[in-house]
This record gives sequence, C-alpha cells and structure tokens, in this order.
Amino acid sequence: MNGKVRYDPVAVWLHWLVAVLVLAQFATGWIWGWFERGSEPRFYLFRTHIFIGSTILALGLLRVGWRLGHTPPPLPADMSRLQALAAHATHRLLYLAILLQPVLGLLTISTFGKSLGRWPRDLHNLGAKLIVAIVALHVAAALWHQLIRKDGLLARMIPARP
Ligand code: HEM
Ligand code: HEM
Repeated sequence: MNGKVRYDPVAVWLHWLVAVLVLAQFATGWIWGWFERGSEPRFYLFRTHIFIGSTILALGLLRVGWRLGHTPPPLPADMSRLQALAAHATHRLLYLAILLQPVLGLLTISTFGKSLGRWPRDLHNLGAKLIVAIVALHVAAALWHQLIRKDGLLARMIPARP
C-alpha cells in the first residue's frame, strides 16, 4: 500500500479516538446498572457517559465536516459492487450513529421543559443494540480484509510510520 491510498492523519486519529470513546459509552451505559440508585459509582459512570457522549457528538460533527472536504481512498478495485455498497452503507450508518445516538441521549436527560415521553430513551436503548450490531459487522469486515483477503485495507486506517 503506498501513501496515496491511505486515509489522511486527521481522519485516522478521529476514527480511533471516536472508536475508543464509543467503547467507553458501552462500558459506562451497561455497567452503571450494577450499582445501586443514588450510589457514588453509579453517579460517576452516568456523568462520564454524558460527558463522553457529548464529546462524541462534537467529534462526530467535526468528522463529517472533515469527510466532506476530504475524499477517502477508493476501495480495492477487485471488490464486487455489492461489497462496495455494503461498505459504504455501513460507514454511513456509523456516521449516523455517532450523531443521532448522542442527540437521543441528550433528549433523554433534557427535554427543554417539555415532556417528550419515553421515546428518546427507548430509541437510545434500541440504538445502543443496533450500534453493537453495526460495529460488529464493521470489525468483522476489517478482519476479513486483513486475514482472508489480505488486501492491506486495515493499513489505510492505521497511523503512518514516520
Ligand atoms: C476495532 C474496531 C474498528 C476497526 C478495526 C475499524 C477499522 C476500520 C477500517 C480499516 C476502516 C477503513 C475502511 C476503508 O479503508 O474503506 C474504517 C472506516 C470507518 N470506520 Fe472503523 N473500525 C473500528 C471501529 C469503528 C467504530 C467503533 C466506529 C464508529 C462508531 C467506526 C467508524 C468508521 C467509519 C464511519 C468509517 C468510514 C470512514 C470513511 O470512509 O469516511 N469504526 N474502520
Ligand atoms: C455515541 C454515543 C452514545 C452511546 C454509544 C451510548 C450508549 C448507551 C448505552 C449502551 C446505554 C445503556 C442502554 C441499556 O440500558 O440498554 C445508554 C443509556 C443511556 N444513555 Fe447513552 N450513549 C451515548 C450517548 C449519550 C449521551 C450524549 C447522553 C446524554 C447526554 C446519554 C444518556 C443516556 C441515558 C440517560 C441513558 C439511560 C437510559 C435509561 O434510563 O434507560 N447517552 N447509552
């Protein structure tokens, strides 16, 4: 893989930063329930969840802005149309996830004085499960490229060695 077919450093660093933060959202979102209501660890995990989630929203907006101005390297030419379509659809869903999920989270805790009912919370909880499935598909695809196709695709998203 030569330098021309890599993601640029900003896209690479934003990708991995957001990926780690998304994992932290699953850790916090699913672990705080182990602690009693009103307990210190539960409150701490909840506040961390809100802080990291809001950071993801900001970074997600930054990513989409960056992406619009920076075309990613083309997919390997020998991938079928269907595979390319699946890759693009998954990537769009992942972008949508890092924007919509925090918005639903914010709507869950702050309804601007209006009662929105349960739907933001229900959709946020459903969103979490859908995101697990999409990320699993995404990671499985990355492993398939790395271990089975051996086409060096993962290297495009790894920081370049100086
Ligand atoms: C261990 C976990 C992950 C691995 C191994 C991984 C790997 C990759 C790789 C190799 C690409 C480049 C695909 C290409 O060259 O066309 C990519 C793109 C992408 N990844 Fe991940 N990823 C991971 C986690 C995540 C997570 C958690 C998210 C977001 C929730 C995410 C969102 C994206 C998006 C949106 C793109 C498309 C970038 C673009 O073309 O604009 N990834 N990922
Ligand atoms: C990409 C960002 C986010 C991800 C991946 C995420 C993920 C999760 C997960 C996995 C849960 C547990 C769901 C369950 O119990 O089944 C959860 C719950 C929750 N999240 Fe998030 N979250 C994100 C952003 C946010 C933000 C920004 C906020 C608030 C500002 C927020 C507020 C909440 C709240 C209030 C709950 C509890 C809902 C309930 O009471 O059932 N989340 N989130």
